[in-house]
Amino acid sequence: MSASKANLHERLREATRALHDELERVVGISERIATRANYAAYLVKLWTLYTAAESALASLDFAPYGFDYPSPYRSRLLEADLGFFGFSTSRLANLPVPSAPRLDGVAAGLGCVYVLEGSAKGARAILPEIVAALGLDAARGATFFNGFGLDTRHMWQDCLAAINGIDPYSRQADSAVEAAVETFEMFICAFAPGAPSSLGANSRSGQVAAVR
Ligand code: HEM
Repeated sequence: MSASKANLHERLREATRALHDELERVVGISERIATRANYAAYLVKLWTLYTAAESALASLDFAPYGFDYPSPYRSRLLEADLGFFGFSTSRLANLPVPSAPRLDGVAAGLGCVYVLEGSAKGARAILPEIVAALGLDAARGATFFNGFGLDTRHMWQDCLAAINGIDPYSRQADSAVEAAVETFEMFICAFAPGAPSSLGANSRSGQVAAVR
């Protein structure tokens, strides 16, 4: 890392840039939103991942950093969208969830939140494609991608303010970077070729949905 890095956000972005590229590659968003069945299967996979990450975050108190992560909220948005596709929360509750990243303190938690909230920003960028390709919107199947709508950026700014309250060269910063890397790795493993379907070995995306 170069000595010119001004804050922990810069450090996190630099440390995870290649992982983001790799994640985008293994996800292949165009295929995931090519049909409503593919999209619903993608939401199921995301639900298992956000559920894992948000359960790890649930016990952490970010108040000393002036931040509040309303955990769980990304997984709740996914539940709303999956409800639209006819997936009950009780069916979701039976799905295997991956091991969550180790979050051994609030700084590590902020590293994980960086990844989740960054993805919320990226999701907003993808929303128009989903609307155009699948005819969905924030009230009908694309709540997760809409996030907090225009307020999504406020959550991101609050998260960055908390992150940048940490000395970027401290042990806490190291812990945040490690957790961000682990969180990205959890997502990459889940989407890597050969990763099991979230719905089990015999499921195909076409079976996911009695999609409307
Ligand atoms: C697979 C499709 C994805 C695409 C096309 C995508 C695209 C984007 C875009 C366009 C941004 C910049 C948004 C902005 O500045 O307004 C962004 C940021 C980000 N995305 Fe993604 N993203 C994807 C998936 C994900 C996932 C699944 C995660 C993590 C779980 C993720 C984590 C992040 C992070 C952390 C940032 C913030 C980087 C920073 O500014 O520090 N992305 N993404």
